[in-house]
Amino acid sequence: MNSDEIKRLSIKLPRIELRHPVMNASGILGYTYEHLLRMREWGLAAIVTKTFTAKGREGYETPIIIELPSGGYLNAVGLANPGKDALYDLIPQAKELGLPIIVSVGGSSEKEFVDVAVAAEESGADAIELNLSCPHTKGYGIDIGSDPGNVKSVVREVVGAVKIPVYAKLGLSDKLINSCEAALSEGASCLTLINTIKATYIDVYTLKPVLTNIVGGLSGSPLHPIAIRVVYEVYKEFEACIIGVGGVYDWRSAAEFIAAGARAVQVGTLLALKGRELVEEILRGLLKWLDIHQAKRLSDLVGAAVKQ
Ligand SMILES: Cc1cc2nc3c(=O)[nH]c(=O)nc-3n(C[C@H](O)[C@H](O)[C@H](O)COP(=O)(O)O)c2cc1C
Repeated sequence: MNSDEIKRLSIKLPRIELRHPVMNASGILGYTYEHLLRMREWGLAAIVTKTFTAKGREGYETPIIIELPSGGYLNAVGLANPGKDALYDLIPQAKELGLPIIVSVGGSSEKEFVDVAVAAEESGADAIELNLSCPHTKGYGIDIGSDPGNVKSVVREVVGAVKIPVYAKLGLSDKLINSCEAALSEGASCLTLINTIKATYIDVYTLKPVLTNIVGGLSGSPLHPIAIRVVYEVYKEFEACIIGVGGVYDWRSAAEFIAAGARAVQVGTLLALKGRELVEEILRGLLKWLDIHQAKRLSDLVGAAVKQ
């Protein structure tokens, strides 16, 4: 891709410039230096780490991820990570890769979110993504993010404690629009939408749920139209900075997110399966999409389907 083409795909997030709009979704690698190296080789514009909590977590027993016969994937990793202190080694190394680094921050209390966010900033992160949406870890993620009051207080405390941009990653809940409003009103500069959705898969031969945690998070293509609906509605309501995530599998599914109002996209499950090949296909496809609409830059098409 030549420099003019790259320029057409460049995107601005608050205080972060991206060469193009594609980054990984949190949890798809991202807690060792080897993971980060692999992601740079895949040609991503920024790297998002796995969610870090204050103390290390082991996660659930295997199986933690399965391919569903009905399509898509189900995972319950249980926020396994080495804990916030590992950020002080990982992030300085990650910065040498020359890409913006976004640290995903988890917590079960305001204090835990703040402690991890401060460690992320001190270790050199460019931005923080608050995990207010993981659907399968009790006391974390969606247990907090489905209550707009909790979202308000967590975002307020973290925004007050760090200077780098704070994004709020939210997931499906009855009060999603209120949670988005709460995050934006307390200073979240972008919304990452959406996380996996609670789901269960039963083996009809053993008569047991296959995941040890019973409930996992649905990811991959079945999530895509739901995520598009959410991004469309949230953009229509707030015209906020949105990063779209859920079931991206080719350039068209990424373009849909942009048309619905996302400035950038994160790719999870399918990135883990296809790596660099998928990133290149998306970027080539997006350039052709710009030509089809005679758009100079990708930013011209952000929210195009909402503004019709
Ligand atoms: C194995 C696995 C681990 C994940 N871990 C995290 C995580 O640590 N933090 C988080 O915010 N989201 C996590 N997610 C959710 C993804 O970031 C993403 O929101 C979701 O998978 C939807 O995107 P996809 O359909 O492209 O995979 C994880 C997803 C998978 C499949």
